[in-house]
Amino acid sequence: MRIYIIGYMGSGKSTVSEKLAKKLELLRFDLDELFEQRFRIDINRFFEKYDETLFRKLESRLLKETILLNNVVIATGGGTPCFYNNMEWMKQFGITIYLEMNPKSLVNRIQASKRKRPLMRGKSSADQLLEYVHNHLRNRNIWYSQADIIIKGESIDVNDLANRILAFQADKSSKPSIQPIE
Ligand code: S3P
Repeated sequence: MRIYIIGYMGSGKSTVSEKLAKKLELLRFDLDELFEQRFRIDINRFFEKYDETLFRKLESRLLKETILLNNVVIATGGGTPCFYNNMEWMKQFGITIYLEMNPKSLVNRIQASKRKRPLMRGKSSADQLLEYVHNHLRNRNIWYSQADIIIKGESIDVNDLANRILAFQADKSSKPSIQPIE
């Protein structure tokens, strides 16, 4: 089993992936951490030194290397599903879980977090941040909404989520992956 947790910055992907891994007795990985370990650079620093285009290219390559991992929960970066064919690929080789959260909650959580986020640089006022997140989320929803399971990030019951994943998995494996031609 390979579970990909997707969602906007601040939606709680790290925490949920940890709880879920514990509950389902799976190993847990974080794509941002894998990136930093592999390229020996902090993501903020990477954005300063290079650019987002290169980040997305390397992020997509790294994502595809996770095909080598099994029985894992992988927390992705907020933008991971929205570039290249990443979303389609994650759905093909794993189960995707979207942690949906409204822009206001996201902004509160982003502001409360100590973590610096390159895409949030220069947006200092709450109003500026809210407008940015609102628009950005609307664009990203095209990908996020394709997730196999969508849950409200504000009120997650990990037991319930684990049951939904197991039911989804059972259903998926009972269907042929290639549809016969009628
Ligand atoms: C990004 C989110 C970040 C990180 C990078 C880009 C994004 O991860 O991958 O800064 O495009 O939303 P988190 O969602 O863990 O903050």
